Amino acid sequence: MGVGKALTQKGSERMRQFPQGFLWGCATASYQIEGSPLSDGAGPSIWHRFSHTPGNVLGGDTGDVACDHYRRWRDDVVLMRELGIRAYRFSIAWPRVLPEGRGAVNENGLAFYGRLVDALLEADIIPFVTLYHWDLPGSLQDLGGWANRDVAGWFADYADVLFGRLGDRVHHWITLNEPWCVAHLGYILGQHAPGMRDLWAGLRAVHNLLLAHGRAVLAFRQRNMPEGRIGITLNFRPPHPGSQSEQDRAAARRAHAYHNRLFLDPIFTGRYPDPIVQWFKDSWPETLQSDQDVIRAPIDFLGVNYYTRNVVVHAPGTGLLHTRVIRQPGPHTAMGWEIYPEGLFELLLWIHQAYGSPVLYITENGAAFEDRPDPSGTVRDTDRLDYLRQHFVQAHRAIQEGVRLQGYFVWSLMDNFEWAHGYSKRFGIVYVDFGSQKRTIKQSGHWYCGVIARNGLEN
Ligand code: NOJ
Repeated sequence: MGVGKALTQKGSERMRQFPQGFLWGCATASYQIEGSPLSDGAGPSIWHRFSHTPGNVLGGDTGDVACDHYRRWRDDVVLMRELGIRAYRFSIAWPRVLPEGRGAVNENGLAFYGRLVDALLEADIIPFVTLYHWDLPGSLQDLGGWANRDVAGWFADYADVLFGRLGDRVHHWITLNEPWCVAHLGYILGQHAPGMRDLWAGLRAVHNLLLAHGRAVLAFRQRNMPEGRIGITLNFRPPHPGSQSEQDRAAARRAHAYHNRLFLDPIFTGRYPDPIVQWFKDSWPETLQSDQDVIRAPIDFLGVNYYTRNVVVHAPGTGLLHTRVIRQPGPHTAMGWEIYPEGLFELLLWIHQAYGSPVLYITENGAAFEDRPDPSGTVRDTDRLDYLRQHFVQAHRAIQEGVRLQGYFVWSLMDNFEWAHGYSKRFGIVYVDFGSQKRTIKQSGHWYCGVIARNGLEN
């Protein structure tokens, strides 16, 4: 064997190779990047209203301009090509397509997504479309939003419009993004739009979100699109008890049931987690068997969003579940989230083992850090690069264990509007100068490009 070959072989031994066809991508969401929220006939979304209400978003930031992606989408697809991503997850703004949430289609709004999809396919990038990433049409909120059971039908009709118009070109659909956040942050804590603080409404929102998801899946199946795949994206934080005391372990189980199983169990098993139903007692909505059957309509994949874990202790009288999250020593991101890559491995294995080995995609993983371009304009975000590398290693481990992980979407393609934090948190692998809208690929982005090209990690 010649020296060169031996070296290559040695090199390849050191490589953590991902399966052939593994889909490396990036993710974004409409309200966080698009800007021009009312252009071309779009109706106002709940996030438009919420961010324009003083006191809701840090610094009074809004999504009025954001990354101006609504006008710069062509350049952004070129950027994606430069990064070499194989798939792109983005969301459709419901109020662009149906300004009132239902009724006549706004052709000009829908056309934007048609053009984007065509450009992605042209660039050889597979579109993953999220139907709902938090920008509910304001008119539907006036009718109670997710707390009104009728929302399930409104959502299924909206979804069906898109299956009909884009289903010939889009084969990967995600019904809802992080419905837990919609209900918990939007209806119970009031930190997100629509800013409600109402447990009763929040628990109904949980059920109606699930019903809406199920109804959309059934509408999708009706259309009989052989290449089409549909799933949902859920957020997870594996809980660890703060001590081995029975009280802390019970607290961790409660947190687990609420945070991780609330949507997963009904979708995969047709039942809400017992600890939750028992905990909320009479506040829990009555659930019909027929609803549960709709909710558990089989999906083709599960989208997993992972950022951190929670270390939980029993804290009587605290919060919804009498639990408290304890800050850990060690590194954290700019969001104050502990960096805990092993949690991704634990999570993937748990889902694989407990829910019948579904096909999984990591639909979000990434980190906010305080990036600053140096005088030459370079952004040396080694902290983000390390964060991603460590999490890729854990994903690779999970695949070795048989987890059916088929792709990985980094959050986010570019810095954007981080909800109640406004533009103060940067998650991008591309830096956005919000004054000039100039995009600069960060060091992590260049590194990610290499990972994709090799379909693996060195060392
Ligand atoms: C969850 C959400 O889906 C996304 O919109 C958000 O920006 C990231 N995670 C980071 O918080």
